[in-house]
Amino acid sequence: MPRVTVIGTGYLGLTHAVCLADLGHEVLAIDVDEEKIAKAASGEAPFFEPGLEPLLRKNIDAGRLRFSMSFPEVAGFGEVHFLCVGTPEGDAGRADLSFVEAAADALAPHLTSECLIVGKSTVPVGTARRVLSRVRAAAPAGRRVDVAWNPEFLREGFAVQDSLAPDRIVAGVTSPRAEALLREIYATPLAAGVPLLVMDLETAELVKVAANAFLATKISFINAMAEVCEAAGADVMPLAEALGYDARIGRRFLSPGLGFGGGCLPKDIRAFRATASELGVGSVASLLTTVDAINQGRRDRVIALARQVAGGTLAGRRVAVLGVAFKPNSDDVRDSPSLAVCDRLAAEGAIVSVHDPVAMANAARKRPDLTYARTVFQAAEGAELVLHLTEWSDYQAIDPAALAGVVARRVIIDARGTLDAGLWSDAGWSVRILGRP
Ligand SMILES: NC(=O)c1ccc[n+]([C@@H]2O[C@H](COP(=O)([O-])OP(=O)(O)OC[C@H]3O[C@@H](n4cnc5c(N)ncnc54)[C@H](O)[C@@H]3O)[C@@H](O)[C@H]2O)c1
Repeated sequence: MPRVTVIGTGYLGLTHAVCLADLGHEVLAIDVDEEKIAKAASGEAPFFEPGLEPLLRKNIDAGRLRFSMSFPEVAGFGEVHFLCVGTPEGDAGRADLSFVEAAADALAPHLTSECLIVGKSTVPVGTARRVLSRVRAAAPAGRRVDVAWNPEFLREGFAVQDSLAPDRIVAGVTSPRAEALLREIYATPLAAGVPLLVMDLETAELVKVAANAFLATKISFINAMAEVCEAAGADVMPLAEALGYDARIGRRFLSPGLGFGGGCLPKDIRAFRATASELGVGSVASLLTTVDAINQGRRDRVIALARQVAGGTLAGRRVAVLGVAFKPNSDDVRDSPSLAVCDRLAAEGAIVSVHDPVAMANAARKRPDLTYARTVFQAAEGAELVLHLTEWSDYQAIDPAALAGVVARRVIIDARGTLDAGLWSDAGWSVRILGRP
């Protein structure tokens, strides 16, 4: 079996390294962040991801997974190097490829024998071929270094199961050898029936951004319908349900609410919009501009509703915010819709108290000025308005009658539409749900 390295141990890279080790591979993982490497090497996941930490420990203990900060060591160890570094939003919405380039540049001078670099990061079309030329020019092994692109579709919160049993594996390759190596690495999921789709580099890069563009469009579509429902006095919830029964449409990603956020969808659709513009495909650029605008508009809508139910102004109002992660089962607050709403509440003079089951430490690093409460009840103490912004299942278990005992006013905005509105109303709460009359 080929020995494997993973470059970049963030949400994607660490999960990938752990899962490859769990599939039986010998894995060496590297990052430039010393603290992350020290934590991971000691068996502690540097971020919250259900099921990851026990698997991390298991594979370290089994001797299949090690960590390093040395590129010469990594280059000497691996026959296949997975590139998992970040590709954040850069200037004018374009993807910032400086981490991909820096990782390739750090690795290349130490590549002295035949090997394959497999990109997993989400990148604009054309990046893989540029990485190939760049690495071949700098590597002593020259043309014996190959590049493939194997985009990742894992969802934070389900990252382990998505890595071990993905819906499909996409492999952009330029040689039969690259395909053979990827087949060997993914032998277990392939044997279990996971489809492998082999294609050219450019198409593989585009599959990932097209998938994210589609998902973002689906969310923004139902949120646009929520806007129509609000204007027409209709109810978006039964509308979404009725649409979802149509097998051509499907129920998933059709939940109206506060919209999408996180470290992927928002920056990926902006990067794709920039690429589409550069390629002269104005239709995709304008579609994604609209998708982004609808999504941002949901944040405005929550603020407008909050202002309205608070009596016209948020200044001096005590607001409890439930949920700050960009989605449940994650501690990720990158482009979190909830955190954006908190920013706006604070800017309008509200006194904001925030609760989240796991994401408060990350939120506090970005917004140290907000108040963070250890429990829902502490967050809601004296609140004149409660905002439900991230749909953790814990919040569905709140007893509204008990919570009523600590707030100043029983008013809640459910921006995710997942609370039992009847239960809350019965306990004397005034409940507003985005998209419902
Ligand atoms: N997070 C997800 O759910 C997810 C899913 C699919 C695809 N992706 C894509 O995967 C990529 C990584 O995303 P992420 O969420 O893991 O980001 P992240 O910021 O959590 O992790 C990136 C890691 O790369 C490291 N790094 C940066 N420069 C490096 C270098 N030169 N050498 C070694 N390590 C370096 C950083 O220190 C960091 O630990 C992005 O392109 C993203 O779009 C992410």
